[in-house]
Amino acid sequence: MSELRLENLRKTFGAIAAVDDLSLRVADGEFVVLLGPTGAGKTTTLRLAAGLENPDAGAVFIGGREVTGLTPAERDVAFVFQQYSLYPHYTVFDNLAFPLRAPGRKWPEERIRSRVEEIAAMLDMEHKLQNRATQLSGGEMQRVSIGRALVRAPNLFLMDEPLSSLDAKLRESMRVELKRIQRDLGATILYVTHDQLEAMTLADRIGILEDGKLVQVGAPREIYENPVSVHAARRLGSPPMNILPPQALGLPDLPPAAAQIGIRPEDVELGGDSGIVARVESLEHLGASMVAGLGFGNERLHVLLDDSQRLRRGQQITFTLNREKIICFDSQGRRIDAPPAA
Ligand SMILES: Nc1ncnc2c1ncn2[C@@H]1O[C@H](COP(=O)(O)OP(=O)(O)OP(=O)(O)O)[C@@H](O)[C@H]1O
Ligand SMILES: [Mg+2]
Repeated sequence: MSELRLENLRKTFGAIAAVDDLSLRVADGEFVVLLGPTGAGKTTTLRLAAGLENPDAGAVFIGGREVTGLTPAERDVAFVFQQYSLYPHYTVFDNLAFPLRAPGRKWPEERIRSRVEEIAAMLDMEHKLQNRATQLSGGEMQRVSIGRALVRAPNLFLMDEPLSSLDAKLRESMRVELKRIQRDLGATILYVTHDQLEAMTLADRIGILEDGKLVQVGAPREIYENPVSVHAARRLGSPPMNILPPQALGLPDLPPAAAQIGIRPEDVELGGDSGIVARVESLEHLGASMVAGLGFGNERLHVLLDDSQRLRRGQQITFTLNREKIICFDSQGRRIDAPPAA
């Protein structure tokens, strides 16, 4: 049992509330991703969970046991940082064995060897066990960093943007790898990133963090389809949800408090006699799909289309919004639910 529970955590640095009354439960075997911009409090939340930082208020529970005030070692958590933290002159083998050779653990060398080999096989690094850390590529180093966290089979993994220093292609393969390892081990992971694609693909549930506050927690699809605020809506999806003033769209029957209208780029259709007239201002080809930037009045919106559409810049077209997919927000950016249909 390695459930993590954060209860009403608060941590201030001077006048800044880095983490503000944050509560979150990561179930045993669950992969939860905290997503937020720089300065949102992601790292501080992880450090509080790890015991590297003490909260001003609130409590941390691991496996049902309160651990607030205990040291990281007493919590038995593994932390993977953004930068690889390998010992450069050690071999891969010795880097992986390091946590097992900690004083007090006293594993016989034979048992260490078999555990390290098992982890190396899982990471597809058996053939590199005798390489020094300095003789590895960035992706290999990061795999060893993750392996070093895995080797002890801790209660809980805390990962702080572990893939952010890798190039796009490696990041993608490591993402798939990490998800597979997590499933195989049934590991409990709290993972932090500002990369929405990582959040969407890795997470069982995502927590959206904004100014130290958790503003929404839910399955990726659930947050994508039902964001609680403009902020949460724009955190997921690329290009992000279009946010427009309702006057620009001439939509009837909007709730009176609707100050901003949200529509995803894939929920805009081109053509139709009754559509709004716009001009194609930009085209971005992404392979199978493309993004068109449309200008109308003083507004701009992005439309996601399949690449077979014949469009050129400067062309005049019409567009309509999928009415069922429109989301209304108030002037503070909070979601307002549409009035019940008459
Ligand atoms: N040791 C510290 N001393 C003072 N302020 C700090 C300290 N650690 C964090 N902060 C502040 O707390 C806030 C949250 O920082 P944190 O590092 O948790 O953000 P983050 O979401 O991890 O950001 P990033 O995406 O840039 O890593 C920021 O305003 C930061 O400046
Ligand atoms: Mg950080």
